[in-house]
Amino acid sequence: PDEDGSRLWLRYPLVADRRLLDEYRRDLRYVVAPDTDGPLGSAAGELSRALTSLLGRDVPIRRKVDGAGPLVLRTAASDAGPESYTLRRGRVDGTAAVIITGGADRGALYGAFHLLRLVQTHVTLDRLDVAERPRNPLRLANHWDNLDGSVERGYAGRSVFGFAELPELTERHSTYARALASVGLNGTVINNVNANAQFIAPEMLFKLQPLAALLRGWGISLYLSLNFASPMILGGLTTADPFDAGVKDWWRTKITEIYRAIPDLGGFLVKADSEGQPGPISYGRTHADGANLIAEAAAPHGGIVMWRAFVHDFNALEWSNKAYETFKPLDGKFADNAIVQIKNGPIDFQVREPAHPLFGALPNTNAMMELQVTQEYTGQSTHLCYLVPQWQEVYGFDTHAEGSGTTVAKIISGRTYGRELGGVAGVMNLGDDTDWTRHQLAAANTHGYGRLAWNPGLKARDIAEEWTRQTFGNDQREVAVITGLLLGSWQTYLDYTNPLGVSFLIKGDHFTPSPQTNTGWHQADAEGTGFDRTVATGNGFTGFYHRPVSDRFENLSDCPDELLLFLHHVPYGHRLKSGKTVIQHVYDSHFDGAAEVGRMRDRWRELRGRIDAKRWADTAERFDRHREQAILWRDTIAGYYFAASRVLDERRSWVQV
Ligand code: GCU
Repeated sequence: PDEDGSRLWLRYPLVADRRLLDEYRRDLRYVVAPDTDGPLGSAAGELSRALTSLLGRDVPIRRKVDGAGPLVLRTAASDAGPESYTLRRGRVDGTAAVIITGGADRGALYGAFHLLRLVQTHVTLDRLDVAERPRNPLRLANHWDNLDGSVERGYAGRSVFGFAELPELTERHSTYARALASVGLNGTVINNVNANAQFIAPEMLFKLQPLAALLRGWGISLYLSLNFASPMILGGLTTADPFDAGVKDWWRTKITEIYRAIPDLGGFLVKADSEGQPGPISYGRTHADGANLIAEAAAPHGGIVMWRAFVHDFNALEWSNKAYETFKPLDGKFADNAIVQIKNGPIDFQVREPAHPLFGALPNTNAMMELQVTQEYTGQSTHLCYLVPQWQEVYGFDTHAEGSGTTVAKIISGRTYGRELGGVAGVMNLGDDTDWTRHQLAAANTHGYGRLAWNPGLKARDIAEEWTRQTFGNDQREVAVITGLLLGSWQTYLDYTNPLGVSFLIKGDHFTPSPQTNTGWHQADAEGTGFDRTVATGNGFTGFYHRPVSDRFENLSDCPDELLLFLHHVPYGHRLKSGKTVIQHVYDSHFDGAAEVGRMRDRWRELRGRIDAKRWADTAERFDRHREQAILWRDTIAGYYFAASRVLDERRSWVQV
């Protein structure tokens, strides 16, 4: 079982460092925990099993302090909230102890996983003094899993939930729950936003009960995606109009029934009037009317509704603007238990986009961010693309909405506008493949998503290194190589796929390079390229931002190079801040990027023999394919731009004129 990725980063091999092993064995002899189920019981069980394995000796659970070396697990109400925890040394009943104190059960569980991380990554507990709390109230996984087991934009097999086999649960379900809890995620939406109404049919609710109970034990609330036309599909009504009394009644009754089956359900997620999904617009109502319909029915049960802002008309010209134009006028009209869920950027999870202008535009509305962990546009399960640096860029984006320092991170946490609800959702990359993510290194994205949801201020390097140590061990060389591969990979992917912010140079599979499929996005002609989104001459998008961001984006001379062609149409000879012309940059970045992938492949190969054979070989095979694909991207994009511009590459003689 250690020879594959089936346990993700929850691997607990014997601590290899002898000195640390002695220290841990001295200080962590047994776990003291009250007799309880729920997250506190899960925490005690995880500590006992994991430490038994890590320390190579039995670490039992006891009810009270009874001899040297207790690891005490307890809860105490804290100003830092129920999900907070501390890890400290102290005395309990006169005995020196390591003490995990959670603000409540969930906090204790997160504290237990923190302690295990320290042991997994070989950190001494000598000066243990940790105080942690999550920055985001909602830290959710979003699964785009369908009832038939297929996964929309999933690249690692079929659904992890095994809907057909429910209510039966397997070991995989527990590993799933433990993995989410270990990085501090506290909720999961288990079905696709393109929602099948059958998910809330009575027989399905019955099937979901044991899953909800399992998740509950790991502090994870279950949520469901709703189909807005459910009153028609399931209820036989002739309308889904949110103002219709029969429709309101139907939802009130249905949601009461759902809560009877799953009393602690977190709530609902809705994609409406987007890409063919039903919604309130067809009835002349607004998105707020639609959201409030569900919100009102869920409120008596303590439920929430997350309403997606992802609306567009499949037309490049308006795509960046539609969500802002639709939702901005609705600010303040959403119920208190409704949250607008906004994708990180205005388009659709492209390799790089500016942060969505709705962040900072809805001061009177709860807002959360949606990120994509599954690599729909970032190489799927073939290219290594570690997205933590991308996510940090958007978390750190300063909207200036309330003066400088109004970052996206601050807004979605609820702090900027004093809102209780907020947070982040990540579209998951897990499937039923043995190793969960097909590309072994893609599990670093799952882990990194959760760690950033907990604290967006963590350093990318620390997160990557932590995952590497947990997943592959603490060998210095291995850690350095893998961490380096992860950290550079997004920039490398940008280099060979995304000339200066141009998106959608891709086929409908969202994988194969194809700049000729949607020329509207890059607008390359004989003179120049890029999408003019300025106020002065373009589609007006830059005007959605607060100053000085709007000025920086609007003015060609201030516009950051990396977003130049996302925001402006410029001649090929336009000089970048780097001094290069746009066209030369396109050539250089694509050649340099593809060459870097070759070096990445070689660096992985050097790890042969240091990593168990199967995981090494699986990943080596991924890197071979990654390299081929990078070359294909390089030649497709560079070739396309040469054909469009007829400007020769100054540095290479690869073109035959
Ligand atoms: C993307 C993706 C779709 C998905 C949609 C969404 O467009 O390609 O598969 O349904 O986003 O987020 O709703």
